[in-house]
Formats: sequence, C-alpha cells, structure tokens
Amino acid sequence: MPKKLDLFAKTEHDALMKSLREWDIAYHTKDAPVVDDATYDVAKRRAKELETEYPELAAGKNSVAQNVGAPVSREFKNYPHSIPMLSISDVFTEDEVTDWLKKNPDEVFMEPKVDGVSFSARYENGILIRALTRGNGTLGEDITENIKTIAEVPQNIPVRGIIEIRGEVYLSRADFFKLNEEAETTGAKPFANPRNAAAGSLRQLDPRITARRRLRAFAYTYGEVSTRDWATQSEFFDRLEEWGFKTTRGWCKVAQTQEEIQAHYNHMMEIRSDIPFDIDGLVIKVNDIETQEKLGATANSPRWEIAYKFPAARGITVLRDITIQVGRTGVLTPVAELEPINIGGVVVSRATLHNADEIARKDFRIGDRVVVQRAGDVIPQVVETLEHAPNSRPYRFPTKCSVCGADVVQESDKVARRCINALSCPAQLTRELEHFVSRKGFDIEGLGSKQIEKFVELGWLKSPADIWKLVSAHGEVLRRMDGFGEKSVANLDASIRARSKIDLHRLLFAIGIPEVGEATAKLLAREFGTLDALRAATKERLTEIPGIGEVMADEITKFFNAASTAAALDELLTHLAVKNPTNSTPGTGHSTLFDKKIVLTGTLARHTRDKAREILENLGAKVQTSVSAKTDIVIAGADAGGKLDDAQKLGVTIWGEEEFENAIEN
Ligand code: IVH
Repeated sequence: MPKKLDLFAKTEHDALMKSLREWDIAYHTKDAPVVDDATYDVAKRRAKELETEYPELAAGKNSVAQNVGAPVSREFKNYPHSIPMLSISDVFTEDEVTDWLKKNPDEVFMEPKVDGVSFSARYENGILIRALTRGNGTLGEDITENIKTIAEVPQNIPVRGIIEIRGEVYLSRADFFKLNEEAETTGAKPFANPRNAAAGSLRQLDPRITARRRLRAFAYTYGEVSTRDWATQSEFFDRLEEWGFKTTRGWCKVAQTQEEIQAHYNHMMEIRSDIPFDIDGLVIKVNDIETQEKLGATANSPRWEIAYKFPAARGITVLRDITIQVGRTGVLTPVAELEPINIGGVVVSRATLHNADEIARKDFRIGDRVVVQRAGDVIPQVVETLEHAPNSRPYRFPTKCSVCGADVVQESDKVARRCINALSCPAQLTRELEHFVSRKGFDIEGLGSKQIEKFVELGWLKSPADIWKLVSAHGEVLRRMDGFGEKSVANLDASIRARSKIDLHRLLFAIGIPEVGEATAKLLAREFGTLDALRAATKERLTEIPGIGEVMADEITKFFNAASTAAALDELLTHLAVKNPTNSTPGTGHSTLFDKKIVLTGTLARHTRDKAREILENLGAKVQTSVSAKTDIVIAGADAGGKLDDAQKLGVTIWGEEEFENAIEN
C-alpha cells in the first residue's frame, strides 16, 4: 500500500542513496569496490522497498527507480543504445521465485549469471560496427576497438540486416590470478576480483592494453534486431553458437517447475567453484520469446527474467595458521589465520573454523588451500579444504587453554570445548567484563575493550565488582597513565556512579548467565520481579515459563547455585541499587501486553505503524484494525481520528506514545 511520505522514511532513504552512489562510483568508475555485493544488495533492496512503500521517493531523481547502472565515463565517446540496456531484478529466496513464477508460469531457461561487464555489439549486414558498454543503460561508452581485441567476439557473422548481440566480458579466475601476479612483479595495484579486472581491462582508452589481457566473452541476449528466426531463448543460444559466439550452454537448463529450478540452482551453487569463471547467481528467463515480448519491462527491468542470486561470495586462499580465541564462557573457538584474500571487495584475513569437531570432520590442516566464504556482515567462514599441504598432519586441538594454560574440557552433550578456569582465565574475565559494560548491560561510558584489557592485565579488575573500586583504589596511578588524566578519570568515575542504579533486566543480562540474552533477561525480570525471587527459583518453576526451556532453566539454576558466582554477585550488589520492574506480572511469564487486543491509530513519532505492530505482536498482543467493546487498549499517536473517538465512546483504555514506549521497554 502506498503511503504518505514521512521524515523517517525520507532520512533513511537519503542515507541509503548516498551510500549507494558512493559505492557505485567506487565500483563502476574506479573499478575498486568498497563494499561486498551482499552489503550493496541489502542497501539497494531496502531503498527499493522504501520506494515501493512511499511512491514519492521513487519519483525523485535521487532514487533507485530513476537510476540504472553507472555514471558514464567522460573519456569515452558516448552513444545511445537503440534499445536501453536494463538491469535485472534480483531475488534471493525460494519464496521470491515462487512469487515470480505465479506471474510467469511458463517454461524457463536458466543461465549462469556471469560476473563480468556487459557489452552490446552492433552488427550491420554481418559486420561489427560498434560496441558499447552498458553505461547508464541509455548511453553507453564506445569500446568498439577494445571489443575487437577479444577473439571470442566475432567481427563478422552470417546475419543480414541489423542485430545487436549483448553479453558479458569476463576474465577466468585463472587468468585473473595470473594478471595479479604480473601486477605484483611490476608493482601495479592488483585488482579486487575478476570482474573488476575485466572492467578495468575493457575500459582502457588504449586498446593495446586491452589486447594483452586475456579477456573472454559470452553472448546471451540481443537488442535491436531486424529479423528474428528463433522462437525461444534456448534456440537463440543455438544461433549464437552457429554464428561463432561463446555461450554458457553447458551450464544452462530448461525447467518447467519450481522443483527443477531449485534443483538446478542448488547444483550450480555446489559446482560454483569448479566453474572456471565467477558467477553470482542464475538468470531465469521465460523461454518463449513471444511471451517475453508480451510481458515487456518496467522502467528498470524486464518482467520476464529475474536474477536468482547466490547468497555468498567465495574465494580460495591458504590457511596459514589456526589460533584459538577464548570467549566469555570459556568456549574455545578456532580461528583461521588466512593469507589475505579479497572476497567480493573485502579483504579477509581471518575466518571462523567453528569448533574442534568441524576441523576434524573437514580435516583442515595448517598450510591447506581452502575455500573461504563470506555473506553480508556474517563472520567469514572456511568452507572446505581443496588440497592439503605436503607432509601435513591432522590438526590437534589444544588440551590446555591458550591463554591461561588451564585444562580444556568437553562437556558430554556439547561440541564446544571450554577452559575450566572461569573468571581466573584473563581471556574469559576480559570478555565477561566487556559483556558486563556493553550497551544492553551496564552501558558504562569510558570503559571500553581497550581499557578493560589494560585493567585486567594490571590485576585491577578481577570481577565486575572491582569496577566500583577502580577509581578509589587506583585513581592516583590512573590519573598519570597514558590516555587518561584528571578529566577522563573524573568522567569515568561519574559514569560508573551513574550506573549504580540499574534496572533488574540490565543486571540479569550483564552478569552473563549462559543462554540468557536481552529478551530472556527482560522476561525473567518481569516474571520474578526481584533478583531474590529469581535466585530462589527451581528448575521446575523456571520451565513453567513459556520461552524458558530445559537447557536455559538448567543454566540459570546452575549459575545461581555455583558458590563462586553467588559470592561475586553478592559483592557486586553491595555497590548497586537495583530497580525492579514496576509492571512485573508474576505467574504469567508474559509481557503485560500478552493476549491484549490492541488498536493502533495516528502517527507515532518513534515507530512506523508496521514496526509498532510487529513489536506488539512479538510481545503476544493481538493487533486489530478497528475498535470494539472487546478492544483492551487503543494506542493513539498524533492526529488520531475516528478510532480514538470510538475508544472514548466505548470507554476503552487509551494510551499515548509514552505509555506504549514504557510498556514495550519492560
Ligand atoms: S540478460 C536486462 N543474461 O547481469 C539485461 N544478463 O544484473 C539482462 N548478466 O547487465 C541481460 N549474466 O551484465 C543476462 N546470462 C545472463 C547474464 C546477464 C550476467 C549481467 C548483465 C546484466 C546484469 C544485470
């Protein structure tokens, strides 16, 4: 449903467009991307989403809707495309494919989405007369001489009249690596990935440079054409090959059902690293050309094709070493130290190896050539070994903690291995304190990871309670320490004092009970009302609460029953005044809003209507669209109209934004 533009949407959209523009310039004009594809895609999707929701945004010049592709480079001569070179809409999930198939139920042709640079080559009576880049979709750059250096684009074809052949110029991965090796010896800047290398090589003002780069090309579609004698996309591929072009035929598939589409997608994802060039997904095209023509295009992209993108970018590099990180709860996580590699525009030098079992199962060894994967902002991971280093031996997981030297144990029902030294292990203590002061916990300003590490090293912090003794016990030294001084010590003291009054749920989050995150901490605070009540709770009592399972209940009781934690907690409490929740609801285990029938009306300043609904529903409320006598609460924002009147008439409880915020806070 189109909505009236609000300031929040506009601000978010502006910020997204600003980033996208910067990233576009880095990527297209400088051939040096600054973010990975997944990050780019997420931002672009969000901007598009906002444009769909608020059509005013789409109408503006600064919108995804009005922009396709890169700004045109000034050094090349520009020519208009006789038929615009559009882009393809991206989809990422099976559900989105289902949606698309509802509108396009016919047979499809699936091609790999080659990750290179697109071109359009115009032939008149069989002679290549001009080649253009996509440019901005309407105007392209004249790269005729550069294209002519690529053997895989024929300069003569047996076709009368006019035909524009469109396709992708690319570099094989092997040639890309060779090119970068050469760059290394000559001191030139290496390219981030094969696509940037292809773009940089093709867009050379001196075609002799292009000629030296082993560029290749696939053809996959056409622009202007005077006579068409093919009825389907797969038949068009046959023609292309007859005329002397290369196609991706060997990796293509005709499919009739979503099952076949998904199976081919999965298969392609699996063999992705065996394909000699980079692909970033599949293009699904309605096979029948007449149907394609009937479907036509939106301003940006044809309706008859979509790009079904792969979720992550991968790269191959050397596993130099395996180091061990000790987490807050003592879990040892193996980390891959990698020969730095650029994956989708981001340099990766460390990746997770998950755990000891994973290393054993996949037989990762130091020195191996490995496949590394990254997707969006998740931690990069090592996927598999391609080749063991000569004379290598299976990795032996340490049996002593790499930081404190204590024994490492594996609990019978868990894969994780832990250092048994708890807070006596400096690594665990540091992580624990970082968690303690983090934003959702005590949120102490001026006490960051760097300071904590230093204070742990100095032996000043041995438990959270020591934070309250920092300034009184070590103030003198601290004031003379590098990076501190009179003022910052006073500030630190003030921010610690400011947090001596603490909400119960923040305290519960901060003390780091295994399995208990922010949401559970809030749930427990609401349910028990006081720390003492929670400390006294049995496992049975805990599992009665919806949302608390066996494992959690077990961890919670173990935590409070351990003598060492109890002592540390008691000491901490001597410094604190705990604020118990005012609207705790013992016995229900739910938010006060659970099961309440709620109607939203008017404009809320802090949330969109959708967001507010989502928050309420997550708390178990039933959000309704109209007010009746059964409605429990009407939440009224600014300019509330008829529904507010109804609520008043029916005597339904009315909340303002503040009451709503308070209720969702607790
Ligand atoms: S068809 C509407 N087929 O993907 C233009 N494009 O994201 C569609 N691409 O600009 C052209 N492989 O550079 C088509 N098998 C394929 C493709 C493909 C890669 C590129 C092309 C296009 C971009 C859109």
